[in-house]
Amino acid sequence: MRQKIVAGNWKMNNTIEEGQKLTSEIVDLVKNEVTDDVSIIIAPSFIHLSTTIGLLEGVSNIALSSQNCSENESGAFTGEVSVNMLNSIGVEYVIIGHSERREYNHETNEQLTKKVDTVLKHGLTPIFCCGETLATREGGNHFEYVCNQLTESLFHLSEDDFKKVVIAYEPIWAIGTGVTASSDQAQEMHAALRSHLATKYGKEIADNTSILYGGSCKPDNAKELFACADVDGGLIGGASLKSRDFVDIAKSF
Ligand code: 13P
Repeated sequence: MRQKIVAGNWKMNNTIEEGQKLTSEIVDLVKNEVTDDVSIIIAPSFIHLSTTIGLLEGVSNIALSSQNCSENESGAFTGEVSVNMLNSIGVEYVIIGHSERREYNHETNEQLTKKVDTVLKHGLTPIFCCGETLATREGGNHFEYVCNQLTESLFHLSEDDFKKVVIAYEPIWAIGTGVTASSDQAQEMHAALRSHLATKYGKEIADNTSILYGGSCKPDNAKELFACADVDGGLIGGASLKSRDFVDIAKSF
């Protein structure tokens, strides 16, 4: 059975004080309202990780993620954060290849391959992001484009390693725009990705892989998206900055 996951990507938002307040509110709401079969993940910026982990003690279904990591182990990489450092404070997940990093930091599929390897080597779980631009979709190549992102960055993995990966499909045209993929559009892409995974890893592993949807997911559309057979939850941006909205999304299965 694949895991139901709702992950909040805070992006570059919140001071430490604001982050602590938001985390505390989420913890209280999750404890009282969210069933244990839903895994909640909070992905604040690096500066928040140490303080946030302290607020998650004893809460079994909320885990911590970073939004990025270095592909290198350690050394002269000014401004970078290693997976070993993340591991040492209890971070369990790392978002890899978000479209904003692919665009603004010029991250390539090849570099993302290295990041995925480093994350897995240290026992953390990659949340691997993929998704197409509007131009690619309008050109009709979106299935091929997104499947290729998985092929290039993930298909070198052994079965055992691949089983640990979470996928997040985030159509770039839906991120922060208020335009959500329709449930039909989300379902057909998620089904295509799952079939693509099955060609490499077999049906059983593909069926057990969590594929999250991201892009203007809100409390009022989460239910319809999460009802799709191949949508296993969401990677939430804007709505994860409001505790009530985020937890309402987590209750939408
Ligand atoms: P929004 O939910 O703000 O569209 O962002 C989605 C996203 O990029 C999550 O990683």
